[in-house]
Amino acid sequence: MLAALAFALPAPLLAQSPIRVPLVPFEVVGDAIPAPLTGVPGDAARGRAIVVDRRTGMCLLCHAGPFPEERAQGTIGPDLSGVGVRLDRAQLRLRIVDARLAQAATTMPSYYRIDGLTRVGTAWRGRPILSAQQVEDVVALLASLGDPTKPATR
Ligand code: HEC
Repeated sequence: MLAALAFALPAPLLAQSPIRVPLVPFEVVGDAIPAPLTGVPGDAARGRAIVVDRRTGMCLLCHAGPFPEERAQGTIGPDLSGVGVRLDRAQLRLRIVDARLAQAATTMPSYYRIDGLTRVGTAWRGRPILSAQQVEDVVALLASLGDPTKPATR
C-alpha cells in the first residue's frame, strides 16, 4: 500500500525541483533602469528592514550606512550614507537589480537576476534574492539617504 502511494506521487514533487519565478522585464538605459519594476511605490521603511536584515539583504556585510542600531557594518563596498544624493532612483535600481551592469567585476550580488549565476544556494535557484517589490522598497530607502548635514529634499 505504502509503496503504491510513493509510486503515485508525481516525479517533480519527489525531485523537489525549484520553482522558477519569472522576472518582471526591465529596460536598461545607460547606467540606470528608469522605470519602476512594479506599480506600487517603494516603501522606505520596508526597504530599511531588508537592508539591515542579515538573511534578506545582507547589505551590511559589505556596506556601512546610517543604521546606528547595527553595530557590525561592512567596508567592502562604499558607505551608503548620502547615496541618495550621489545616485538617482533609476541608477540605484540598476545597482540593486544587477550591480554588474554598472561595474562588471563587482563582488556585489545581483539581487534581481536568475540566469548566469554561479554558486547559487539551493534555496535561491530559480528565483531572485529580492522580489520586484522588495527591490523598489530598497530603492526608496536608498533614495532617502541624503546628505546628513542638509534637510531631505526628496
Ligand atoms: C558582497 C558584498 C556586497 C553586498 C552583500 C552588497 N553590496 Fe552593494 N556594493 C558592493 C561593492 C563592492 C560596491 C562598489 C561597486 C564596485 O566597485 O564593485 C557596491 C556598490 C553599491 C552601491 C553603489 C554605491 C555608490 O556610492 O556608488 C549601492 C547603492 C549598493 N551597493 C547598495 C547595496 C544594497 C542596498 C545591498 C543589499 C541589498 C548591497 N549593496 C549589498 C558590495 C556589496
